[in-house]
Amino acid sequence: MTQLQTKIGVIGLGYVGLPSAAGFAEMGFSVIGTDSDPKKLATLHEGRSPLYEPGLQELLDRHTSSGRLRFVDDIASVVREATVLFICVGTPQAQDGQVDLSQVDGAVKEIARHLDGYMIIVEKSTVPVTTADWIKKTVSAHTNGNLEFDVASNPEFLREGSAVADFLNPDRIVLGVESQRARSILEGLYASFDCPVFVTDLSTVEIIKHASNSFLAMRVSFINMISDLCEATGADVKKVAEGMGLDPRIGHAYLEAGLGYGGYCLPKDIRGFIHIGEQMGVDFSLLKAVEDINDSRIDRLLRKIEESAGQLDGLQIGVLGLAFKSGTDDTRVSPSISVVQRLQKAGAKLRLHDPQAIENTRSQIPDSPGLVVYCDSAYEAAEGCDALLLLTGWPEYRELDLTRLNSLMSSPIIIDGRNYLEPAEARSAGFQYSAMGRP
Ligand SMILES: NC(=O)c1ccc[n+]([C@@H]2O[C@H](COP(=O)([O-])OP(=O)(O)OC[C@H]3O[C@@H](n4cnc5c(N)ncnc54)[C@H](O)[C@@H]3O)[C@@H](O)[C@H]2O)c1
Repeated sequence: MTQLQTKIGVIGLGYVGLPSAAGFAEMGFSVIGTDSDPKKLATLHEGRSPLYEPGLQELLDRHTSSGRLRFVDDIASVVREATVLFICVGTPQAQDGQVDLSQVDGAVKEIARHLDGYMIIVEKSTVPVTTADWIKKTVSAHTNGNLEFDVASNPEFLREGSAVADFLNPDRIVLGVESQRARSILEGLYASFDCPVFVTDLSTVEIIKHASNSFLAMRVSFINMISDLCEATGADVKKVAEGMGLDPRIGHAYLEAGLGYGGYCLPKDIRGFIHIGEQMGVDFSLLKAVEDINDSRIDRLLRKIEESAGQLDGLQIGVLGLAFKSGTDDTRVSPSISVVQRLQKAGAKLRLHDPQAIENTRSQIPDSPGLVVYCDSAYEAAEGCDALLLLTGWPEYRELDLTRLNSLMSSPIIIDGRNYLEPAEARSAGFQYSAMGRP
């Protein structure tokens, strides 16, 4: 079988599964995908992407019309047609902090019920170490040990906002395998990529993914800790980060002080990793400190608003940016949403803007005339406001006419939670400007 004859199945078509399915089709593979959410499938059947990712709709258009990418309503059809199955379902945080594996459990049992020949079942979802062993046992129990299959791990490192580009141009591919057969099929899938392919055992790969995300979160909290010191001493955290990053052992990535990390991955992955550490009797207090620093960001921002504009109750506040980062419509565990909810609770009136994430925010924070108003532009959000918050670093916010923005507001106050604007420019447009860890 040539590698392009490998037929790929994708279970779960969310922020990872859909770009992966479209990406494999772009690489030349025949891909069949499904999701348990009928609304998502209906949107896909209409030819539309249910989520915003740059370049994704174009790939869907190209490969659904070429027939290389198909969506079906049930796992049974995927199992029947595919030779490699990627599990891309959600792995949210459970109440007690451990990873909720119920979506993986549901998908695996359904796969096992329909297996009728050799299959590689690949974890692409982020799962705790030893999950692959549990998948093996679950599938064996359902098939009475009568069918040959492999479980492999191939964690996804794409970033929302550049998911398609990241999938098609990865820095590295990490594979956890237990058989030569699975290894050669999976290596074959990625043979066209010009990047290292790191192959090791399943448990090691599961730890690589959780450890990588925890490390990134640690860098963010580290620079936020330094940001607090900069505020206490009048230093500039942006320049500290720049100076530190010149050391090639340190580098610049994930050293941006601000509102902290958010989104679907880092918060739950670090929590899940701490839980694993506790279960295994390993001291993970380092990562608990990372979480504490991150949690304290919202309070610091709210204090800054009070210091600049006074008591929150009754203030009219404009918010620029609701997605957890730019380039996506994803608001899951977005620090901006936490800020908005805290301001709402404190009695502030809010005017909200985001280029992509308004619909997703609305499902969590409904319109309320006079109290929560969604706006079509940053200028509209600024109208009559006592303070304007910049909470997501969308490039278009750097292009704003600050003098015009100022003229629309009651008080010219900007609090930049992402250290995104140029302080000198904001001040020369007449703004009282404050940021995170900057003088
Ligand atoms: N979002 C990211 O940036 C990112 C990056 C790398 C890894 N990951 C990991 O990838 C996994 C998926 O993340 P996501 O952001 O795509 O989540 P998501 O919630 O956007 O997508 C998961 C999808 O799986 C579907 N699903 C759940 N149970 C199913 C089942 N039994 N059968 C079929 N479909 C089912 C859901 O309906 C949903 O559409 C998680 O483990 C996450 O930690 C996410």
